[in-house]
Amino acid sequence: MDQITMAARLMIVSDLDHTMVDHHDPENMSLLRFNALWESNYRHDSLLVFSTGRSPILYKQLRKEKPMLTPDITIMSVGTEITYGNSMLPDDGWVEILSQKWDRNIVTEETNKFPELTLQAETEQRPHKVSFYVDKTKAQVVMKELSDCLAKRGLDVKIIYSGGMDLDILPQGAGKGQALAYLLKKFKTEGIPPVNTLVCGDSGNDAELFSIPDVYGVMVSNAQEELLQWHAENAKGNPNIIHAKERCAAGIIEAIGHFNLGSNSSPRDVANFVECKLDHVNPGFEVVKFYVFYERWRRGEADNCELYLASMEASCDPSAIVVFPSAVEKTLLECIHTLKGCYGDQKGKQFRVWVDRVLSTPIGSSTWLVKFDKWELCGDERCCCVTTAKINAKGSGALDGYAWANMQQKWLEGYEKKDDSTWLF
Ligand code: GLC
Ligand code: MG
Repeated sequence: MDQITMAARLMIVSDLDHTMVDHHDPENMSLLRFNALWESNYRHDSLLVFSTGRSPILYKQLRKEKPMLTPDITIMSVGTEITYGNSMLPDDGWVEILSQKWDRNIVTEETNKFPELTLQAETEQRPHKVSFYVDKTKAQVVMKELSDCLAKRGLDVKIIYSGGMDLDILPQGAGKGQALAYLLKKFKTEGIPPVNTLVCGDSGNDAELFSIPDVYGVMVSNAQEELLQWHAENAKGNPNIIHAKERCAAGIIEAIGHFNLGSNSSPRDVANFVECKLDHVNPGFEVVKFYVFYERWRRGEADNCELYLASMEASCDPSAIVVFPSAVEKTLLECIHTLKGCYGDQKGKQFRVWVDRVLSTPIGSSTWLVKFDKWELCGDERCCCVTTAKINAKGSGALDGYAWANMQQKWLEGYEKKDDSTWLF
């Protein structure tokens, strides 16, 4: 939280499974489109919050399986754990609040009496969350009886049913909605409330997100029955909540457009980069655009990309160098030349490139130091280089485009490329 010092232009609070992440899309196209949009247009002045039912262990597992960005804030275990930044620093204040009027042992004792409840995996049992599976047909009855039992024992709990199978028991003050309310209150106290907040979800545990005052909401097109029903009963006339036409992350992009919360055009949707350069004048956009182009080039899907490459070559300072993780140095011109010869070398293969944590700092009137993580998925191998690049505005202003100067890359620990001969940038 200490790192957040500015009021966010847009705070997106999104569920992961079947909302940000589409498990029915092996190509992860909508997620990659969202990533490119976020890093090019929002990363520098907005906040990305993931709010998931998953425990930290299952959350980290998902991050290894899918091309996900690093959020500014991570809310896990159905709003019972809040962490900040890449290092996932826990919010101890939140833990303290949740511990009031909560006794995990009593929950376990009482739930033992229900044969309809099947305990979930050990990883999903958390200090302020006890989770089961229960058959859809029995859920309503079990929830009512269980709630009575726990009330008799003096506990004030919240029971949430999601995905037509998961039953979570949490302290009454917990949940995704309460966790968001807690964050919003914190931002307000510090004088930095987000200008706009958009909540995104698909299932039962997301419902409370939509009842937080003054937020926009999107239920993705593939939302579960239980969420749509909650909406029909509780929020039907609210114009700030939509049921998107599009699935998952594409539904989030749709909502950004619908509510006019900022740009909703992802660099991945741009066919011709030469034409689009005038609309966007930040170096973060340049980085995203370059790597979308790079992916297309190597996948052999480039449309008008020759022109873009030629303009890059033309704007290259002949002395600009790239330092690779191996400490080998090449001139940028040599690298571009190598790239030229690699058109379509990944055609028909699983090859995706995305950037994360793009951060640009001005170091002069027309020069920026841009730091970012460059990820490359190549078949089953996933590699990442922490990259620092110097980027100059061409000509008199940013409207003339950008030129890449020096660049330096270091492997992110655990994501080194085994055979780095095909790593170009
Ligand atoms: C995630 C969690 C699970 C929880 C479910 C619904 O799948 O892993 O424990 O029950 O979300 O909240
Ligand atoms: Mg979900």
